[in-house]
Amino acid sequence: MNNIEQVEQTIAFVKETLQGAEGGHDWFHIQRVFNNSLLIAKDEKVDIQIVSLSALLHDIADSKFHGGNESVGPQMAREFLASLGIKPSVIDHVVKIIENISFKSSLDSKGEKKVAKRFNSLELQVVQDADRLDALGAIGIARAFNYGGFKGRELYNPDIAPNLKMDKETYKNSKAPTINHFYEKLLLLKNKMNTAGGRKLALERHQFMLDYLQQFYNEWNGSV
Ligand code: ADP
Ligand code: NI
Repeated sequence: MNNIEQVEQTIAFVKETLQGAEGGHDWFHIQRVFNNSLLIAKDEKVDIQIVSLSALLHDIADSKFHGGNESVGPQMAREFLASLGIKPSVIDHVVKIIENISFKSSLDSKGEKKVAKRFNSLELQVVQDADRLDALGAIGIARAFNYGGFKGRELYNPDIAPNLKMDKETYKNSKAPTINHFYEKLLLLKNKMNTAGGRKLALERHQFMLDYLQQFYNEWNGSV
């Protein structure tokens, strides 16, 4: 099977597996990450086949929807790639990317950057940037509110605002509104981008989110 056929087979598998997935992690999220991975990869010396397969399989089984089990996705990807007869060295690399790509896995339990990362490669960096881009800008905003709705969160609450000095325990019990997620994660992502191309796109989307937040507060306060 040639490289193009491998990618086509993987697209079919992912579409089928993600049928009925929620809007933040459905096939269209994968398609955007795949397209942005290829865009960023144009300026990087990477193995395009590894980038493509990793982008397509990176959310094949999100641990959030599998009882926090982080090994389901990598295992599914490994079995699928083996069924295509793909070289073990390529399979190992793709699986390592899937295991290490998420925002969470590069942070420890206190939200600090881990001292030693478990695995890194330029291919991982490209796909990670593409995945992060999908959490930014207009799409990122849509995904955040979609996720917040799914979790039954408030849009915004001035009493649980991100800049309030609230003790950690009270905050943890307060079910933070979706706007807080911007300050806890989304607005931090531009400084975590790995590649020059990814960073450039992230900066544009970051500015869009700042403008959005300004408009949001203006409307909230009745001053528009
Ligand atoms: P991915 O799997 O694509 O790396 P995540 O699973 O971390 O990303 O999150 C999926 C989407 O849901 C992202 O757009 C993210 O911003 C959003 N999200 C995650 N946690 C929250 C939260 N606490 N509030 C609002 N949105 C969230
Ligand atoms: Ni993703």
